[in-house]
Amino acid sequence: MQQPVAPESPILFFDSGIGGVSVLRPTLALLPQAPIVYATDYLGLPYGEKSEAEIGTRVSALLGRLIERFRPRVAVIACNTASTIALAHVRAALDTPFVGTVPAIKPAALSTETGVIGLLGTEATIRQPYVDRLEQEFCEGKLLVRYAAPELVAAAEAKMRGQYVDPQVYVNAIRGLENAHDKGFWIDRIVLGCTHFPLVRDELVEAAVKQVGFPNDIQTINGGDGIARRILQLTLGQPWPASSPRRLVINNGGPLAIKPVWAPFAAMGFTELQAV
Ligand code: DGL
Repeated sequence: MQQPVAPESPILFFDSGIGGVSVLRPTLALLPQAPIVYATDYLGLPYGEKSEAEIGTRVSALLGRLIERFRPRVAVIACNTASTIALAHVRAALDTPFVGTVPAIKPAALSTETGVIGLLGTEATIRQPYVDRLEQEFCEGKLLVRYAAPELVAAAEAKMRGQYVDPQVYVNAIRGLENAHDKGFWIDRIVLGCTHFPLVRDELVEAAVKQVGFPNDIQTINGGDGIARRILQLTLGQPWPASSPRRLVINNGGPLAIKPVWAPFAAMGFTELQAV
């Protein structure tokens, strides 16, 4: 039987790195009183270049441990790569309600005017059967152009640390997407199918419009707002702490670690950093 939820029970966010912040921000806009545990796996980043088996094992093991330790009311896999590969496994194995992040192909397909949608994701995400199913379900009579842009993960990590990023990285990603299909020129919606990518959205749009020649009204779409609404719905009627909800980052070290990227977390009311 489902136990009643304690006010201090957190919402768990999980991503390989900083990308989950693009899902966390819209969630905090709807639930400013929520206690949060934001867990990173910098030892495993980048997920996008790993095999399905490796990602599946890693994500299931880490989530199992985190859930046992923090007993979250909801666990959010704020990573498209991990969600498209491991969401079904963790849902089957663990009782906690899960929310996944998968490429926002549906809203893009519903709103495109040219019928040509671009999908930027990691190498692992764009080859997933999960994405094939979304395409079959929502893109009938439309075209989905997929392109892997793993260098945008490193770009987002660097940007969030206040480091210089060569703007050519963004131009290359947009050009690669456009060249992935001879109708790429007609793309009017770009799905940002990796949670790191909304963190560099403005740079991508600038590259698309100013350098590659996409129209000014090119739109990017990501799942952040929809996920925030889903979390709100799942937690409706639950109690929250009266003040100062606990906000904690979990880190497992590695060359990137979280320390140098603390400022955006401090701005969201995080006060603690712990090892896994
Ligand atoms: N943020 C992850 C995603 O949404 C990917 C980053 C990585 O490659 O580790 O797919």
